[in-house]
Amino acid sequence: MTLVQTATLRSLPPYVFAELDRLKADARARGATLVDLGIGSPDLPMAPAVIDALAAAAAEPGIQGYPPFLGAPRFFDAIGRFMARRFGVTVDAPNEALALSGAKEGIAGIIAALCGPGDVVLVPEIYYPVYARAAWLVGAEVRWMPMRADTGFVLDLDAIPAAEARRAKLMIVNYPNNPTGARVDRAFYDRAVAFATRHDLLLVSDAAYSELTFDGSPAPSALQSDPAREVTLEFHSCSKTFSMAGLRIGFVVGNARAIDALAAYRSNIGYGTATAVQHAAAYALDHHEELVPPKAAAYRSRRDAMANAFRAAGWDVAVPEATMYLWLPVPEGVDDWDWVKALIDRDGVVVTPGVAFGDGGRGFFRISLVRDEATLAAAAARIAARRRVLMRAA
Ligand SMILES: Cc1ncc(COP(=O)(O)O)c(C=O)c1O
Repeated sequence: MTLVQTATLRSLPPYVFAELDRLKADARARGATLVDLGIGSPDLPMAPAVIDALAAAAAEPGIQGYPPFLGAPRFFDAIGRFMARRFGVTVDAPNEALALSGAKEGIAGIIAALCGPGDVVLVPEIYYPVYARAAWLVGAEVRWMPMRADTGFVLDLDAIPAAEARRAKLMIVNYPNNPTGARVDRAFYDRAVAFATRHDLLLVSDAAYSELTFDGSPAPSALQSDPAREVTLEFHSCSKTFSMAGLRIGFVVGNARAIDALAAYRSNIGYGTATAVQHAAAYALDHHEELVPPKAAAYRSRRDAMANAFRAAGWDVAVPEATMYLWLPVPEGVDDWDWVKALIDRDGVVVTPGVAFGDGGRGFFRISLVRDEATLAAAAARIAARRRVLMRAA
């Protein structure tokens, strides 16, 4: 049998994480033990109470049946309470909400539900891969929104050409941001909502890291700037907030017509999200005030352990106020991939080259804070030492 992937699938640029996997496998085959700070898969355990909620949900009568297409009533209620308590945003669930098996599939789904060949999607030039890949998969065009270090990685909406904005069906923003750790205030969302309104497009806010902030000021929701949900759709995830990445659970809230389109798309290709997992996530959302602070504190203390180790080694790194990543410049004069390969092959530390997040990420690399403080500090010392060696040689 000859099976050939579609031309569209084959035309996608290589997935950088697959190349990283190859480098890791080669190093391990040579006997290396690696500290993998590449992908952002949470190592912190789920809270015992969430595990109990999951176990109790698994034993509920009727749980063996297919889930309701849109979401479980208990999850919808918890989403409504969470959005109200956390952001002061009213959500009329289920009209304005949908349960998802993670934010990623939802983001891909809304693009597939609204876009096709000839349509334009506005994507930050440093981006979580699904934003562009989902657009390319449906034959839509991607236009990059400027996102530069000198403006703190806050999108420069004024620099988006009006002609491109007019053609766009939707724009995607992601704050707190993976990979840069940048965050924005309400005023940014005010501008983004005004931009979306002016150009008659959907503002898609990816708020997967909304709860992982470190400076005591909670991150805003884009929906606070669009109280009538005219142009905004916001994706939330339990993956990092509650260390539930493996359970695949998130949700989306916002514009009812967009929710309807996403629900229509999803109901054609799947059966919704496991009810037991929704019930566990409902418990987590209802207890976010107790469950989130220990997670945020752990990432903050890991960030500090690494930053202190870098500084002790003479590298004064900038630290982010949010997320679970450090976003650092590749040493001057050193090629991105040479740098990442040297760290894997010589120091046993895996980091992600910035180009994994698009051309805009060139010249940077990302460290995921997915090990304990001591391991991270030791890794930082090795990275800083390698930097000195390579900069001397460059
Ligand atoms: C910016 C961003 N959005 C969405 C996701 C995916 O979230 P989920 O696990 O809910 O699909 C990630 C995961 O790393 C992410 O970094």
